[in-house]
Amino acid sequence: MRILVLGSGGREHALVWKLRQSPLVSHIFAAPGNPGTEAEGAENVPIAVDAIDALVDFAKREAIDLVVPGPELPLTLGITDSMRRAGIACFGPDSYCARLEGSKSYAKALMEKTGVPTAKATVVHTPEEAFAAIDRMGAPLVVKADGLAQGKGVVIAKTLEEARSAVSAMQKDRAFGSAGETVVLEEFLEGEEVSLLCFCDGTHIVPLPSAQDHKAAFDGDTGPNTGGMGAYSPCPLIADGMGMDVAKQTILPVVTALAKEGHPYVGVLYAGLMMTANGPKVLEYNVRFGDPECQPLLCRLESDLVPIMTHCLDGTLDACPIAFTKKAALGVVLAKEGYPGSYAKGARIEGIAQAEKTPNVTVFHSGTKRENGTLVSNGGRILCVTALGETIAESQKQAYAALGAIHCEGSFYRHDIGNKALGGK
Ligand code: AMP
Ligand code: GLY
Repeated sequence: MRILVLGSGGREHALVWKLRQSPLVSHIFAAPGNPGTEAEGAENVPIAVDAIDALVDFAKREAIDLVVPGPELPLTLGITDSMRRAGIACFGPDSYCARLEGSKSYAKALMEKTGVPTAKATVVHTPEEAFAAIDRMGAPLVVKADGLAQGKGVVIAKTLEEARSAVSAMQKDRAFGSAGETVVLEEFLEGEEVSLLCFCDGTHIVPLPSAQDHKAAFDGDTGPNTGGMGAYSPCPLIADGMGMDVAKQTILPVVTALAKEGHPYVGVLYAGLMMTANGPKVLEYNVRFGDPECQPLLCRLESDLVPIMTHCLDGTLDACPIAFTKKAALGVVLAKEGYPGSYAKGARIEGIAQAEKTPNVTVFHSGTKRENGTLVSNGGRILCVTALGETIAESQKQAYAALGAIHCEGSFYRHDIGNKALGGK
């Protein structure tokens, strides 16, 4: 099979790393890919993930059998619909279903309609409407831009004043452009967060083991929200084997509803969950693998990923054996100072080969590039150093030992990835 992976981060490096292990795969292209995907033997092609027509032309020209989009943007822009029209299989939801991530008000409405537990919310279209709702709801409350805002569109407002200024930034100052025209105001939920991802074939779902992301930039969950500074699996909040119980409440109802509407959901559906005193509640859906959750999760996947994807596309996921190792995996992100705000690019990265000598460690590239043969940083998140161990404690030890071998001027990482699973904070 000839496969085209879309994206250029750690998630996409992990996808290429896993797909190339399949005996069914003859060639992998990555658009645009990164030095990590290239090192796995993928052929990087300089086409952006949102250049839908160019990607379809490329896939036709190269006789691609399967397209695997990493990030949400091409999915919300309809890459699956366009590839399908061209007769090319694409492992991801169509644009109709991708609204689960592309519009928080759409996702909220579908959750309410299908009885999925989630925070109570009000959708507002003007600042006047918003201010009235804020007064009615009281603080604390959560203010969310409706559309895609690169993980920056959520504000936890502790006071009414903070909520009003978040609304003003979104609706008056248009901080996120049209993505913030509509705003979702949401009840603040207390609890621990966990990510639950499912393979979906339109009708059947198969949960992956649970994972926990670390969204805050610094140790102890302090500092600004990021795309994710590290992740591990399993997360004790949902033990291995318990995922289906939670998925039946939080994922299956929307998959069933979408199928009834004539849009079977195919691909990975990711629920960000808050485990509250009243049970799990969905904070958000993502219509793809998470980054960095994908890196530890794929390290735990023992089965070939290609048949899983083709069974999803054929609607026969129930006939596909899927095995994960009982071992635990943990990934730590090395990021550039300044991230998630502005940061410099071009710092030399050294020591990856040395780091990978640590047993059971894989270093996934997130934001890197080659400049005259030298590997340099090219993004806020630079690498994700991932280890597989008998326990979370062992994988944590290995990942941090490997990180010690890596040098990149002006970079930082969290020192407490996985601590929550070990009884710490
Ligand atoms: P989201 O992009 O919707 O997942 O929101 C980003 C982060 O904001 C989540 O990972 C949570 O930490 C936090 N968050 C979102 N919604 C709520 C809520 N209703 N209550 C408490 N925290 C929330
Ligand atoms: N790590 C969270 C996400 O991929 O959205």
